[in-house]
Amino acid sequence: MFDNSTMLVEKNVPLQPFNSFHIVAKAQALARIVDASDVRALLAEAPWAQMPKFVLGGGSNVVLTGDVKALVLKVEVMGRRLAGETAKALIVEAGAGENWHEFVAWTLAQGLPGLENMALIPGTVGASPVQNIGAYGVELQDRFDSLDAIDLHTGELFTLNAAQCAFGYRDSIFKHSSSANTDADQKALGLKDRALILRVRFALPKHWKPVLGYADIEKKMAEHDCTQPSAQQIFDWVCDIRRAKLPNPDLIGNAGSFFKNPSVTREQCADIIARDPKVVHYVLADGSVKLAAGWLIDSCGWRGKSVGQAGVYEKQALVLVNRGSVSGSDGATGGEVMTLARAIQTSVYERFGIMLEAEPVVI
Ligand code: EPU
Repeated sequence: MFDNSTMLVEKNVPLQPFNSFHIVAKAQALARIVDASDVRALLAEAPWAQMPKFVLGGGSNVVLTGDVKALVLKVEVMGRRLAGETAKALIVEAGAGENWHEFVAWTLAQGLPGLENMALIPGTVGASPVQNIGAYGVELQDRFDSLDAIDLHTGELFTLNAAQCAFGYRDSIFKHSSSANTDADQKALGLKDRALILRVRFALPKHWKPVLGYADIEKKMAEHDCTQPSAQQIFDWVCDIRRAKLPNPDLIGNAGSFFKNPSVTREQCADIIARDPKVVHYVLADGSVKLAAGWLIDSCGWRGKSVGQAGVYEKQALVLVNRGSVSGSDGATGGEVMTLARAIQTSVYERFGIMLEAEPVVI
């Protein structure tokens, strides 16, 4: 089926090592992208130019429900450097294929604080703007400067600033498809399957202040009797907190939080509190209320439950895990993960009237 003349493209590549759920699936065709010229070479050659493409970063936010028929572009663009400065910030650039956590550790080793609250988030630098990763009071958009990407239809390079990325809670322009049926403005908003991120630049504040206030961090400050932690201390604490309640994807397959924390109106929240006063909720600046999806799932009794080899993590109900990935068996299928996810959505909806939205991309 495929033209063997393309050295760049590997056939029938097992994807289990490349997705953090460790789901068994194959890419019919996979190309490693180390540079924009690799994308251009593919776009210049049949049949790759016409084939749908799927961009794979660290594979920490995907559920594979079968072999991938699209041409998988595995991003391996490397490099980290101080790229410039503004009046208020130092600009640091990293290749999209760099491991996120190692990049965060590297910035601290260079004496450049600002990313420490997001330590130990699995995945790559290139995936970080796609879902606007965030943890412990800091989101990627708070530290984002700009990114370079390549258009997968035309091969053109382009740069986007924060406004152009249209960041939202675990959301960006890269999660939305453009649609020919919507008007021109809407069409311009979607870059899903259209762009491959090559490099990301971060604006790290010259006058750094710790971001505190998140309950788990406050607890660590009290434990260590420390009111002004250093960036390295926050980094270490965040690593401890995450290791204590989130499974290590190298040992137990998972994709981090499986659902987004839902936002509801004050009225809806009041109704839920009346039915269950213990519901964990946070009032946001715009008056809406964010509910802890982990709590909603937990209170429906899902913690520790399984469908086949797909399970709900014992220490954090927001995380679905592959129970088979350490036992040496093939483990959970993407189908089992999605059956479990839908059963959870149905039971949370029946009890609270809230439809949870999945975070990972389902392929
Ligand atoms: N909770 C329960 N039971 C559970 C899980 C949580 O009652 O099984 C309660 C907790 O006790 C807490 C509340 O729910 O009161 C919130 O839990 P937590 O502080 O662990 O944070 P989260 O809302 O579950 C979010 C992010 C995480 C991020 C943490 C810390 C989302 C979808 N998830 O989780 O991000 O690390 O906050 O900032 O926003 C990820 O996206 O993959 C991720 C891990």
